[in-house]
Amino acid sequence: MASSPTPLRAAEVALEPPRSTGIGELDRVLGGGLVAGSSTLLFGEPGVGKSTLALGVLRQVALTGVPVILVAAEESAAQVAGRARRLGPVPEHLAVVASSSVEDVERVLRSHRPTLCVVDSISATRDDALAGATGSVGQVRQVAERLCAAARETGTALLLVGHVTKDGDLAGPRALEHLVDTVVRVEGDRYGPSRVVRALKHRFGPTGEVGLFVLGEDGMREDPDGLGAGPGPALDVPGVVWTATLDGTRAWPVEVQALVTAADGTPRRVAHQVSGPRLSLMLAVLEARCATGLAGRDVFATTAGALPATEPGVDVALAVAVASARSGVRVPRDLAVVGEVGLAGEVRPVAGLDRRLDALRRRGVQRVIVPSGATDGPPGLEVTVARRLDEVLEGLGLVDNP
Ligand SMILES: Nc1ncnc2c1ncn2[C@@H]1O[C@H](COP(=O)(O)OP(=O)(O)OP(=O)(O)O)[C@@H](O)[C@H]1O
Ligand SMILES: [Mg+2]
Repeated sequence: MASSPTPLRAAEVALEPPRSTGIGELDRVLGGGLVAGSSTLLFGEPGVGKSTLALGVLRQVALTGVPVILVAAEESAAQVAGRARRLGPVPEHLAVVASSSVEDVERVLRSHRPTLCVVDSISATRDDALAGATGSVGQVRQVAERLCAAARETGTALLLVGHVTKDGDLAGPRALEHLVDTVVRVEGDRYGPSRVVRALKHRFGPTGEVGLFVLGEDGMREDPDGLGAGPGPALDVPGVVWTATLDGTRAWPVEVQALVTAADGTPRRVAHQVSGPRLSLMLAVLEARCATGLAGRDVFATTAGALPATEPGVDVALAVAVASARSGVRVPRDLAVVGEVGLAGEVRPVAGLDRRLDALRRRGVQRVIVPSGATDGPPGLEVTVARRLDEVLEGLGLVDNP
């Protein structure tokens, strides 16, 4: 049957539509939800919120009245129950199996045929017939292969939780990439609450889409406007400016912060959650095109909150934050700047300007400086066009004050 060619036009699209995870921000990343019989790898650094997000999905799907199973390979059923209660009342159809044996999981899949099964984690599940330490590439591959096959057979949507370390990076997940249908990463600085969820591979849909969350006491809360990345009280100091960054098709507001201090020895340039190369570029342009004296100064730049902003659309914000820090002149808190900066000091257009402006308006920003060719912007937002970085700095009074 499988070996005889079929005209492609006659081949019916037999794929079932994805089933919503009940979490809009995750559905967006998954192209609608989880597909029956498919396997999804959910990975990220320790403590980033993988188990919390997986439990959130289990709860939501269980609430629709279908059987879902959590295989806890790292914790006892009692520990999982405690964790689940933290997120609210535990739904009736959510069952737990505490086991780290791949055979147990296969048995559970075949006998219960759950709609959804989460294995937390694949790194802690092993095949005793195979040598090798639990979590080794060989073990993890073997376990994933067996579980993916079982899920296909039972029509279960399988969600595998995987570990990564900062240096070992994708050692685990990369070994699994080709075995699973979808690979999703949970990103975020563990010391801040904001989380970005991103599809790196997707057999059934597009990649590049991101979902925004805030990790809190009560789980992974959806943050569709990306406001969780913002600071608490309004800071009214030099070196701080609002901008909006773009990732996938999402834009969210972000505050760029800079500090300029006298260097003790060779000047240091430190970029945290912003692009190091782009910061260097902005410092060169500030020196060469805007007469901002940075020689013999340490420059530090970061974003407030846990989300990075590394794309060129935040160039103007980087430069303005540094110039503001250098001059000691504050940037108004109701103002934001958006734009890429070229080596000639020109302000260049950015992708997704409308989306960025919309994000800033939701944040409560009232005025935005944008590159030429800009739209009028959403209602309630005053938009000013700038062609050169030195114009922007002059307009804001950020002239060097040695
Ligand atoms: N019972 C709890 N009470 C309070 N906070 C918790 C509890 N369980 C987890 N957390 C916090 O929630 C965050 C996310 O935890 P979670 O277990 O979802 O992360 P993870 O990515 O699965 O981590 P790991 O790689 O260690 O399995 C962690 O920072 C943790 O400190
Ligand atoms: Mg976990």
